[in-house]
Amino acid sequence: MTAHNIIRTMVNRGNTLLGIGCYSAALASRVSEEKAIKIGTDLEDPWLDYYNFIIKKFPNNDFTPKVYSFHWDSDSNYYVCTMERLSATPSGDVETAKNNAWAIKQFLRHEICLDELWYTTDYDDLEFAQLKEVLLHVMKMTDVVDVDDRDEYPEDARRLDLHDGNIMWRHDLPIIIDPWCHNEMEGVQDLSMWADDHLKDSPLHW
Ligand SMILES: Nc1ncnc2c1ncn2[C@@H]1O[C@H](COP(=O)(O)OP(=O)(O)O)[C@@H](O)[C@H]1O
Ligand SMILES: [Mg+2]
Repeated sequence: MTAHNIIRTMVNRGNTLLGIGCYSAALASRVSEEKAIKIGTDLEDPWLDYYNFIIKKFPNNDFTPKVYSFHWDSDSNYYVCTMERLSATPSGDVETAKNNAWAIKQFLRHEICLDELWYTTDYDDLEFAQLKEVLLHVMKMTDVVDVDDRDEYPEDARRLDLHDGNIMWRHDLPIIIDPWCHNEMEGVQDLSMWADDHLKDSPLHW
């Protein structure tokens, strides 16, 4: 329960909770408004594959989150990561931004091909090359695209999980923050359920 204790302590200390998912919570840094602290409760979190094999591999890619520090503890089964703070909604040309994100999701779901992605989005050559680099790697590492095919894969396979909370925004640029969940989520202890029970008395409960 180390991660849970860290999260509770930080919330009580005044770090605003920015969001919470099944595996991790993101809190605002008190040192810099530009930074978020992501605390993960499980070293089986498929986000670690995303971090190790994609984010770290392409540190200058505009479509991945910038990660400033990463610490993990295998004894207590948690990780803490400092990363750039992103927004839940786009700014600037919101309609175009959302259309771009929609096309990105469609591509990862194999609903449109790369040519269609190029014509549907409004990125220039350089931006599109960066986008392509990330998306092709995410695609290659995705085991299960469609939830309906779940039964054909092992429980710990990486299943595509592109709900709105997993794509955040740097101004008008969609940032894929967390592309996968476990194929079978039944064995995963949902941190957001824990938060409902344990963080609700906090004055800063979100
Ligand atoms: N860099 C960030 N800046 C702001 N909020 C974030 C950031 N990363 C994550 N969050 C928030 O925390 C939630 C959970 O993070 P996420 O990486 O999706 O973990 P999980 O695997 O638990 O779903 C996100 O849906 C979002 O609301
Ligand atoms: Mg998530």
